[in-house]
Amino acid sequence: MFRGNQYQAIGYIVAKRPGYDSCLPGWAPVNPSICEWSNLREDDEIVRILVAGGAGFIGSHLVERLLGDGHSVVAVDNFVTGRRTNLSHLEENTKLTLLDCDIAKPLDAQPFREGIDQVFNLASPASPKGYREHAIETHLSNSVGVWHLLELARSCGARFLQTSTSEVYGEPLVHPQPESYWGNVNPIGPRSCYDEGKRFAESLTMEFVRQYQFDARIARIFNTYGPRSKPGDGRVVPNFCVDALHGQPLTIYGTGTQTRSFCYVADLVSGLIAFMNATSMAGEVMNLGNPAEITIAQLAEIVREVAGSKSQITFMPLPEDDPTRRRPDISKADRLLGWQPTTELRAGLELTIDYFRRYL
Ligand SMILES: NC(=O)c1ccc[n+]([C@@H]2O[C@H](COP(=O)([O-])OP(=O)(O)OC[C@H]3O[C@@H](n4cnc5c(N)ncnc54)[C@H](O)[C@@H]3O)[C@@H](O)[C@H]2O)c1
Repeated sequence: MFRGNQYQAIGYIVAKRPGYDSCLPGWAPVNPSICEWSNLREDDEIVRILVAGGAGFIGSHLVERLLGDGHSVVAVDNFVTGRRTNLSHLEENTKLTLLDCDIAKPLDAQPFREGIDQVFNLASPASPKGYREHAIETHLSNSVGVWHLLELARSCGARFLQTSTSEVYGEPLVHPQPESYWGNVNPIGPRSCYDEGKRFAESLTMEFVRQYQFDARIARIFNTYGPRSKPGDGRVVPNFCVDALHGQPLTIYGTGTQTRSFCYVADLVSGLIAFMNATSMAGEVMNLGNPAEITIAQLAEIVREVAGSKSQITFMPLPEDDPTRRRPDISKADRLLGWQPTTELRAGLELTIDYFRRYL
């Protein structure tokens, strides 16, 4: 259905609105038949928010929270790593529009130009499996795609938030990592499509701030976990949870002494929204994550306990360029936003494992 640079509004309610033909206000798609529905009405009051990558793990939680706060949301996704089912519980919400659209292709459809107030960009493969399988798409999403969204936001006078990543710090030589640290990244390694892609995206975003006095900000997200994370995509928390529930061995890459800091998704979403809504933040870069640092071996033990699992633990060689330490310095977010994560790891894991129990 998706053709080139056209935009397909995807709906769960096509069958319920057979005569619905007005699409989005002012939007004249090249082929009207591909605009199947829109939940947006012309008379919607609005803070209207575009979430690129809205059908992904974090994006779907962000969309849900924004709708819960009473906003209208245009979620954009090409489903390269996201899932429609992540938003299916919101299908009846009249303030949600979901567009099947690749941000790396020109964003010339009208709905994007009609009164967008804020743009959150989360559109990028983010798991090791996701960006390895879609390496060139990852480069393009984080370069051409970010440029398209920046231009779109600028043309609407919208505020822009780019989600970056702790991966821009690479194998850090400074610990914990403050925003002022420039990183230690392998520019040509197997992770570079993501790490360098995100670094380019940051650089481009800052150029818009400098050249156009544009209101954009950059959130560097550290490891986030929670319901709707995707099993089997190479991220440690969903992998451990699912293996523990299935009684399969939990695979640790390396010795298990490498550390990570895990932030529950609801906390992260609160941080993203607080950052977006804070004034005088143009050009600011902010770490968002949980500074509580544990080893991967400790994580495996906690997951086994919370899941009530007797799974064995097995060891495999460490992948290339896998960082040995990761912990955010979040003093800036605390100082400027009053934000700190509040969910204990064990409590967050209980919610996550409960989700996998119900949906596996
Ligand atoms: N989850 C984490 O721990 C973490 C850590 C650091 C940074 N981040 C960043 O947060 C964002 C969301 O991550 P996530 O964990 O939810 O990953 P995800 O893969 O679940 O979500 C990304 C979404 O973007 C969509 N997408 C990718 N390329 C696109 C394109 N060209 N056009 C439209 N949609 C596209 C995917 O289909 C997916 O739905 C990413 O930008 C990622 O880099 C996440």
